[in-house]
Amino acid sequence: MDGPALITGATSGLGRATAFELARRGHPLVLVVRDLDRGEATAREIREQHPGVVIEVRHGDLSDLTGVHVLADSLLVDGLLPRAVVCNAGLQVVDGVQRTGDGLEMTMATNVVGHVALLAPLLEHLRPGARIVTLGSETHRGGLRAFGFPAARWTGMRTLLDPPAEAPRSSNAGRVRYSTSKLACIALAYEIDRRWRDRGVRAVCFDPGLMPATGLAREYPPAVRAVYAALTPALVRMPGAGSVSESAGNLAWLAGDPAAEGLMGSYVSGRRARKSSPETYRDGIGAEIWETSLVAAGIDPVDA
Ligand SMILES: NC(=O)c1ccc[n+]([C@@H]2O[C@H](COP(=O)([O-])OP(=O)(O)OC[C@H]3O[C@@H](n4cnc5c(N)ncnc54)[C@H](OP(=O)(O)O)[C@@H]3O)[C@@H](O)[C@H]2O)c1
Repeated sequence: MDGPALITGATSGLGRATAFELARRGHPLVLVVRDLDRGEATAREIREQHPGVVIEVRHGDLSDLTGVHVLADSLLVDGLLPRAVVCNAGLQVVDGVQRTGDGLEMTMATNVVGHVALLAPLLEHLRPGARIVTLGSETHRGGLRAFGFPAARWTGMRTLLDPPAEAPRSSNAGRVRYSTSKLACIALAYEIDRRWRDRGVRAVCFDPGLMPATGLAREYPPAVRAVYAALTPALVRMPGAGSVSESAGNLAWLAGDPAAEGLMGSYVSGRRARKSSPETYRDGIGAEIWETSLVAAGIDPVDA
């Protein structure tokens, strides 16, 4: 693969493990991180394990759209055109509705809009063969396969980015906002693939399964986190769950291995395509996510 693999949220959890795995596979890297010191420390550790790998560390807070524009411009100016973009950074907010400095609901802004703002200026410059990987989750479906996590509730991208004042503030409502953002990540991959496949740029959505050992539950109350930590050894052995290293191996494969080409345009668990929920295939939902995100990011949809 010529050109680096860029990964957002590379300082912890799945993103960090995937960066190591991509380096092991010989890919040069661009680590996009919101804490440069931790990013440089991660890069040092990767170089120790994989001497010779070329790594750039760039600041990127996906919830700060001005910063994302600066990041995208700097990548173009420096000729760092990725052959794979892994849109991994993500968070859950379970203590009420939080807004970014741009006034957008934090979960959807970080997990979706920030990535659209990063991708939009890059896409037309990417070479044929480039891949975009978004991070989905079975939480979008809810129910047993999501370990009881509440399913996504699609109320329209504009409303989701600017919830009304009376929007519920419970932790359950926060989890619904998360699963809804993951639904958007799935439909976003389908949309990017539909728009760019003729130019040889493909997109795919990866479901890593439940990985209880990452930092994703960091905003949960301490008692809930303690129960979760105690259950982790049992949870990782259940169907639909797994270790971070196993998911990172699959994600790095999907982002960079020629053998994964046939999976582009789909929703992938492990190394297999599977159906996502009917809502993710609904006519117009991908375009709504793409275009509303562009507008929220101050990018004219006609230019992207
Ligand atoms: N864990 C699971 O069970 C699971 C299941 C399905 C899907 N996923 C998805 O997998 C991805 C990785 O999650 P994880 O489980 O590895 O959780 P994690 O350990 O919390 O990692 C999330 C990463 O995103 C970064 N991040 C959060 N907000 C950011 C922002 N505003 N700007 C830039 N980076 C930001 C974090 O940065 P810091 O290091 O600075 O905190 C961290 O590196 C997410 O998209 C998540 O939705 C996870």
